[in-house]
Amino acid sequence: KVRIKTILEQGERMVDKNVTIRGWVRSIRDQKKFAFLVVNDGSCLSGLQVFVESTLQSYEKVKSLLTGSSVSVSGKLVHSIGRGQQYELQADDVHIYGTCDASYPLQKKRHSFEYLRRIAHLRPRTNTFGAVMRVRSMLAFATHCFFQENGFVYIHSPIITASDCEGAGEMFRVLTEPAKSLNNSGKEGTREFFGVPTFLTVSGQLSAEAYSCALRDVYTFGPAFRAEYSNTTRHLSEFWMVEPEMAFADLQADMTNAESYVKFVIRYVLEKCKEDMDFFDRFIENGLTSRLHNYVEKPFIRISYTEAIEILKKSGKSFQFPVNWGEDLATEHERYLAEEYFDHPVFVFNYPAGIKAFYMRNNDHDSGKTVAAMDLLVPRIGELIGGSEREERLEVLEQKLHELGLEAENYWWYLDLRRFGSVPHAGYGLGFERLVQFVTGMENIRDVIPFPRFPGSAEF
Ligand code: 4AD
Ligand code: MG
Repeated sequence: KVRIKTILEQGERMVDKNVTIRGWVRSIRDQKKFAFLVVNDGSCLSGLQVFVESTLQSYEKVKSLLTGSSVSVSGKLVHSIGRGQQYELQADDVHIYGTCDASYPLQKKRHSFEYLRRIAHLRPRTNTFGAVMRVRSMLAFATHCFFQENGFVYIHSPIITASDCEGAGEMFRVLTEPAKSLNNSGKEGTREFFGVPTFLTVSGQLSAEAYSCALRDVYTFGPAFRAEYSNTTRHLSEFWMVEPEMAFADLQADMTNAESYVKFVIRYVLEKCKEDMDFFDRFIENGLTSRLHNYVEKPFIRISYTEAIEILKKSGKSFQFPVNWGEDLATEHERYLAEEYFDHPVFVFNYPAGIKAFYMRNNDHDSGKTVAAMDLLVPRIGELIGGSEREERLEVLEQKLHELGLEAENYWWYLDLRRFGSVPHAGYGLGFERLVQFVTGMENIRDVIPFPRFPGSAEF
């Protein structure tokens, strides 16, 4: 009862051996005296061809199976004389678990990604989504390998929180259903279960900072939630974020770690998911794997925000959004820099303080006009990573909160980290779905997460 992937990997060693596979029928060809089924169990892209002779007891039932049926097949693995596959299974016994009728929404033909989004519960049975999810899983594994091998401690940061890490007010409220009041609150009918307003976290950074100011190098890897009405191919309301935080690190060290991490996971999947990556290269984005090889071989580019603005101004392009020092870069600007100008991942650092979050460290060299922040922009995607040195000086941080109209009281414990043994530290957040898009060539972020959440959609 081995996985099909294992059989194909072991190849010659399995020939003439008896094996049992289980999976779903991808296609069936009835040739009267015999039939061919292709069965896949999702362990690999291709599946295994099964040869069924009419002498088999259950032949009549087997040959009338339709795409999508689930079966178990036992038999001998042999060399296939047909073209297209090296091996096939000569069935001695076929057991049918569940049949499938012609209303099965995944008939053997190419379906649009839009159509497949409407059947998000069945789309993992397609080649593309099987491959995306295997690569996604490997990227997650590689993420843990990278940080664990480099001595980082994995921290589980809370999902329900009272603090707005980004200070952008794009949070989902957490309420109980039905309304429950706290016994001691005296407020009848309030649904404030925790006694204070709580939200789904937008980022695990603040928790990671607390732990980094004790364990040095830590990372979180969990879901983040943003109630922003961005109906784009790069935004989700629920996404996953990898957030390393390093004590005693500055912005250069932050960028160096981010570059090593991204290169590590790309190399990892190119090696471990070769079949799937070749599939993306052929069917999703031509030349993908050689471009990825190129990205990991050369150093990522590093330019300041001020230099980026100069490049954009000189580009002669008519952008939809104006390019002015002090304003945030729009996706079109980010993509111009990474895709057209450099054609390579590029770090942009030292952003104007006015467009960045309260926790970013003011740069001394220009009296806090800019902050020690960085974004990693990559071709096709734009922003993949956002990070910074953290403001570790108590008075400066209090002043920043004040300027942004944020209540210092709400951040009392965060300020404690600056009161008691404060140290310079830095970190970043990588949008995991954007990484999956970058590595697979998938165009829409809704197609790289099992069940996407975006405005107006949480059906599955
Ligand atoms: O730039 P962001 O907002 O930074 C933070 O949240 C920091 N607290 C991270 C840190 O320093 N620890 O988000 C980080 C990354 C972005 O670069 C982007 O890749 C991704 O998270 N991201 C999203 N991905 C999908 N859908 C959304 N709505 C996203 N918002 C951010
Ligand atoms: Mg950002």
